[in-house]
Amino acid sequence: MMELLLLVILSCVLLVWLWMRYRHPLPPICPGALPVIGHVLAVPREPQERKVYYRSVINTGFIIYFPVLSDPDDAILVANTCFSKSYMQNFASELYGRGLATSEVSMWKVHRKLLNPSFSQQILNSFLGVFNDQSRRLVSELDMEVGKDTLDVETYLTTFLLRTSCRKYFNLKSPPIGRRLNDFFHFEFQIIQRKLNDKESTVIENSQDKFQPLLDRMLHLYKTQDAFTVDEIKEHVNTMIAATYETTAISITFALILLGSHPDVQSRVLQELNEVFKEKDRDVDKTDLHKLVYFDAVIKESLRLYPPGPRIVRCIDTDVKLKEYTLKAGSEVLISIHSINRHPMWGADADLFRPERWLDPASLPGNPNAFATFSLGKRNCIGKTYAILVMKVTLVHLLRKYHFTSSSPNIQSQCGAFFQVPKNEHEVKIQYRK
Ligand code: HEM
Repeated sequence: MMELLLLVILSCVLLVWLWMRYRHPLPPICPGALPVIGHVLAVPREPQERKVYYRSVINTGFIIYFPVLSDPDDAILVANTCFSKSYMQNFASELYGRGLATSEVSMWKVHRKLLNPSFSQQILNSFLGVFNDQSRRLVSELDMEVGKDTLDVETYLTTFLLRTSCRKYFNLKSPPIGRRLNDFFHFEFQIIQRKLNDKESTVIENSQDKFQPLLDRMLHLYKTQDAFTVDEIKEHVNTMIAATYETTAISITFALILLGSHPDVQSRVLQELNEVFKEKDRDVDKTDLHKLVYFDAVIKESLRLYPPGPRIVRCIDTDVKLKEYTLKAGSEVLISIHSINRHPMWGADADLFRPERWLDPASLPGNPNAFATFSLGKRNCIGKTYAILVMKVTLVHLLRKYHFTSSSPNIQSQCGAFFQVPKNEHEVKIQYRK
């Protein structure tokens, strides 16, 4: 009797689910969904992330479904119509606080406008000195890895990028940080508090220049216009640092694996570097970057094939009519950056690493949204120019000194809650250049 009752209940649940699911045609559901419970079992690997994830799952009533968009036109329409982040971002905000990436739309609109000037080219160019100094330090640290069988390059890069952020945001010579983000955040709170109490904050108060580095700009706006609370400043800095170091470290790692497994591409990059940096070991300056055309193509191609954040999720605030479906208000949708970047409009070789495609505009898709690594629309990545600049400076220093080799051109990656990373077998090896 009990078994029969259970069967009836389960059948009813399944019928309700089928009705809900097929009432309106939806985009394909992201792989890995199970009937009724959807993607609930897609659990992140990191213990810290898991705890927050389970809490979010309970809050959403154990039903998590992600239809997935891989058409650039559909994706840009959603990205510019619906700015709210999904429960996945609430999940991120428990880890990093309500910074720009996770704040509610009303606050995001105001803060994004206030923070945009801190990411202008003028400000970013002023970081070149720090990027060069820190890259030199990274290169000398890697000396001890020459000739070894494997090098965990991502770990070196993570430490290097945290250190670089610290110099950039706080202008500190020797930040007392280890690799752990929590230590870093604790330390960073002390610095912000000190800056707020400090006499030097009067300098910030008097500054009229809106093109100030991020922290100075926020402190200035806090002092003069009450535009941020102290907690908001801390949460913005937290988010910014969290968004900076891991994404960029993963991107440089993928680029090095690709260069290591495509020796012809690496030789061509080196040839270009030798032509531009005749005096071999000098710093990278802003005029060099325009001359590195093939190198730029390699970086774009690497970011296209292996975007560190392979998807974003948006809440659908209002019904959105796409080419073939209507997304209903109240639902959530996953925009697959990975699939957009490999959309058939990239051609039959969309899955291949072919930097040359960027050298010939005719071989690129005509659709400007076909490259989505930094997300799409108005709520895209505020740090994209920063990311590309730091990637370029770091790679120039690394490639001038070391020859990289890596196992296989067919990179396998694995995805966590936010990022895709290369699988372990893709570690790289380094040798001094002759
Ligand atoms: C290769 C490196 C990077 C990649 C691929 C990347 C990618 C992305 C993507 C896909 C988003 C959208 C996330 C979403 O909507 O859920 C995003 C947002 C964001 N990124 Fe990046 N990012 C990178 C580096 C950086 C850097 C260096 C910074 C800071 C300096 C940064 C700061 C942010 C912030 C603050 C947001 C939220 C923007 C907003 O909501 O207005 N990112 N990034």
